[in-house]
Amino acid sequence: MKKNLFINGEWVEASQYNALHSPYSEKMIAEIPAATIEEVEKGIEAAYHARRIMAAMPSHQRASILEKVASLLDERIDEAAEIIANEAAKPITAARAEVQRTIQTYKFAAEEAKRIHGETIPLDAAPGGEGRMGYTVRVPIGVIGAITPFNFPMNLVAHKIGPAIASGNSVILKPAGQTPLSALFIAELFQEAQLPAGALNVITGSGSLIGEKLVTDERVQKISFTGSPAVGIGIRNKAGLKRVTLELGSNAAVIIDKDTPIDTIISRCVAGAFGFQGQVCISLQRIYVHEQQYDSFVDQFVSATKELTVGDPLDPKTDVSALITRKDITRTLEWIEEAKQNGAEIMIGGEAEGNILLPTVIVGAEPTMKVSCQEVFAPIVLINKVKTIEVAIEHVNDSRYGLQAGIYTDNIHTALTAAEKLHVGGVLINDIPTFRVDHMPYGGVKESGVGKEGIKYAIEEMTDLKLVIFNKNK
Ligand code: SIN
Repeated sequence: MKKNLFINGEWVEASQYNALHSPYSEKMIAEIPAATIEEVEKGIEAAYHARRIMAAMPSHQRASILEKVASLLDERIDEAAEIIANEAAKPITAARAEVQRTIQTYKFAAEEAKRIHGETIPLDAAPGGEGRMGYTVRVPIGVIGAITPFNFPMNLVAHKIGPAIASGNSVILKPAGQTPLSALFIAELFQEAQLPAGALNVITGSGSLIGEKLVTDERVQKISFTGSPAVGIGIRNKAGLKRVTLELGSNAAVIIDKDTPIDTIISRCVAGAFGFQGQVCISLQRIYVHEQQYDSFVDQFVSATKELTVGDPLDPKTDVSALITRKDITRTLEWIEEAKQNGAEIMIGGEAEGNILLPTVIVGAEPTMKVSCQEVFAPIVLINKVKTIEVAIEHVNDSRYGLQAGIYTDNIHTALTAAEKLHVGGVLINDIPTFRVDHMPYGGVKESGVGKEGIKYAIEEMTDLKLVIFNKNK
């Protein structure tokens, strides 16, 4: 299957192509354009031209295009889920769940398109402001350069295209190298929904070539990036005055207090640690359990992990499949070995079967070990014993990252203290950090990024606040 670039509302044959392979079977699944700089230039030019058309489009029309995309996707859920499962090795049940979320995301975007508004400003609150009336409006910023990751190839694309179109911008999208098919599929739906030509352009190929061009081209007003901290920091350093939203990594943690009935939370913690092979920015990587519950928690967690089915992403029984690249198998095995050599204990897993890293539970890992202080992005979870919740909070905060964190406790004081003290973008009381629905504000502190996603919040970042003042003293 040979795919083309989507530029200015048309499918454009590229001058060169790369083979795309399934991470699980390693079979070739498609040929994907490797855009040249001239092709990227065409995409930017198309988006730049379309920005005026989008800015002039009434919000009800932007909303109906987004609603149409949501309903077209709803008609093709199985096909969409198979695309994700094939290109990302996401287990098919999780892939289906992602498609359902993507539909929601476009629906939220359609709703938000109709309620983008400013406020009136009482200018006479300041001496000299008498007789003046001010109001603000939100105006589209122009061209959004969107760079998306492999782990939610449909929904994280929706988190960029959805708010951009809702707020009257045009987009040039560079999807992850391993997962372009989901993005190209979505472009087909936008074409069918009659989005004006140039309002969405999908350019596949080299991340550094396309990324560099998007970040440095003056016609692109904003970069919205989800991916690794190293790339995100590079973008920020080059972006100059361009607006930038960065959704980066994390080594997310949960704290379990002594009053927690362990059996009620095990399956949720296991899902949070191993869902999509742990390749989720808010995947549960570190668990801090009060010493009174520790032994029981470890026993039950390991038993539940043994029940997971590993294998083919297209098999509905599969819970855990292949990591995205072979290199990630090598990297994670090295990190596990480092932990082992330095005294940590592997309770289960710790080895690979082909491209699949078996779900791995490690106890006694020190905070300086890579499996703890780096983002593992793999099915590896650490369980650590703590004497007090205060100490657990210090451990959670002892991280370069701060995306989301959770705490299970029945004690309201402990919950409120955790909400105040945890230095993260989102605190989950009585839940794991892996919770996300698509309208909530989502984004981290420290090396987890800058800015927020979640449609309403992303729209704020994709629009400029413009002030208008009437002077009746004239
Ligand atoms: C992410 O990995 O950043 C996204 C997580 C999610 O949308 O559930």
